[in-house]
Amino acid sequence: MFRLSQYMREVLHPTPLKTPRKPSGPVVIWNLIRRCNLTCKHCYTTSADIDFPGELMLGEIYQVMDDLRDFHVPVLILSGGEPLLHPDIFAISRRAKNMGFYVALSSNGTLITPANIDEIAEIGYQYIGVSLDGIGETHDTFRRKQGSFAASMDGIRLCREKGIKAGIRFTLTQDNAKDFPAMLQLMDDEGLDKFYLSHLNYGGRGNKNRKDDAAFKMTRQIMDSLFEACLSWERQGLHREVVTGNNDADAVYFLHWVKENYPDRAEHVEAKLRQWGGNASGVNVANIDNLGNVHPDTFWWHYDLGNVRDRKFSEIWRDTSDPLMAGLKARPRPLKGRCGSCRFQAICNGNTRVRAQQIYADPWQEDPGCYLHDDEIA
Ligand SMILES: C[S@@+](CC[C@H](N)C(=O)[O-])C[C@H]1O[C@@H](n2cnc3c(N)ncnc32)[C@H](O)[C@@H]1O
Ligand code: SF4
Repeated sequence: MFRLSQYMREVLHPTPLKTPRKPSGPVVIWNLIRRCNLTCKHCYTTSADIDFPGELMLGEIYQVMDDLRDFHVPVLILSGGEPLLHPDIFAISRRAKNMGFYVALSSNGTLITPANIDEIAEIGYQYIGVSLDGIGETHDTFRRKQGSFAASMDGIRLCREKGIKAGIRFTLTQDNAKDFPAMLQLMDDEGLDKFYLSHLNYGGRGNKNRKDDAAFKMTRQIMDSLFEACLSWERQGLHREVVTGNNDADAVYFLHWVKENYPDRAEHVEAKLRQWGGNASGVNVANIDNLGNVHPDTFWWHYDLGNVRDRKFSEIWRDTSDPLMAGLKARPRPLKGRCGSCRFQAICNGNTRVRAQQIYADPWQEDPGCYLHDDEIA
C-alpha cells in the first residue's frame, strides 16, 4: 500500500530522514466470512449469498487473536465476504479492541443501518472503509445489485453522523474510470477522511475478469488526477489520507511527478520512498481466510502457507521453508524480466507478484500490471 498523502506532505513540508521504525508484526487482513449479499464482478473471494462450510468457529477465532497479539500484530482489518453478515462480528470486534489492536472494518456498507449504527459506533473502530466502485448505476452494475450504491452511501453517512472515521475504496477498471472525477468530488461533498484507490488484482473473479483491467494510459491519467486532488486537499489543510493499493509502481510514478513538478524535492522524496521499500506482501501484510488458511496477502487464496487449525499463525508466518515466502521476504526479491532490471526495485520491491504468477505461471516474472514506460525504469 502506497500512502500517497504522506509523501505529498514531504513535498510540501519535508521532515528529517530518521531511521525507520520496524513494524512490530504484520498487518493482518482477516476474511472472517465468505458469505456476501453482493456478487461483485471483480471479487477476489468469489463471494455469494450462500453458506460456505468449514469456517473458523468463534472459539478458534479467539485463539488465533491471542496468538496474533502475542506475535505483536498491530492492526486487524476485519473483512469478508461481508463482515457484517458474520453473526459474531461485534463480539469479535469488541474483543479485538479490548486486546489493543487497531481495528478497521472493511465493508460494502449496505448493511450499516439505523438499527446497528449505535453498536458500530460504540465498538470504536479506528476506521471503516466502504467500497464504492463508481457513482449510481456504474457501481450497481459493477457490484451486480440494483440500489447498492444508495445503500452504501446511506451506510457511509450514518458513520459520518456518528463521527466515525470513514472513507471509500475504489477499485479501478475500464468500466468505472469515467466516474473517477465524480468520486473525488464525493470526497468533498461528503467530507470523507480517506480515499483508497485499489488497482485490479488477479484473484478470484478479478482474475476471471482481468480483461476489464484499466489500460496503462488510463491508469496514468487517473494517477495524475489523484496526485492533483491530493495536492489540492493538502494545500487546503484538509489532510485527507490518500492511499493506493495493488500497484507499488504508483510510488515510482509519483517520484517522476515530483521530479517534473518539484525537482528540488525529488531527492528527499526518493530517500523517503526507499525507506518505505514498496510491496510488503508476505512481510508486513498477511491474510487469513475464512477457513483459517494463511496467505501472503489477500490475492493468494490459491496458495496456502498453512492453516491456523494445524499451526499457529506466528509459526506459519516465520516459516521460510515455503519457497514463495522465502522469495517474498528476500531483499532484493528474485525478480525477472522488467522488474528484475528495474532501477526502482528498492522503491517498488517488485510490485504485485500474484499478477506475474497468474499470467506467466512464475511468481518472479515481471508484473504485467506495471504501467511505467521503459525509459522510466531504466
Ligand atoms: C473482498 S472485499 C470484502 C469487504 C466488503 N465486502 C467490500 O466489498 O468492501 C474487500 C475489498 O477488496 C476489493 N477487491 C475485491 N476483489 C478485488 C480485486 N480482484 N482487485 C482489487 N480489489 C479487489 C473490494 O472492492 C473491497 O474494497
Ligand atoms: S467485493 Fe465485497 S461486496 Fe463484493 S462480492 Fe466480494 S465480498 Fe461481497
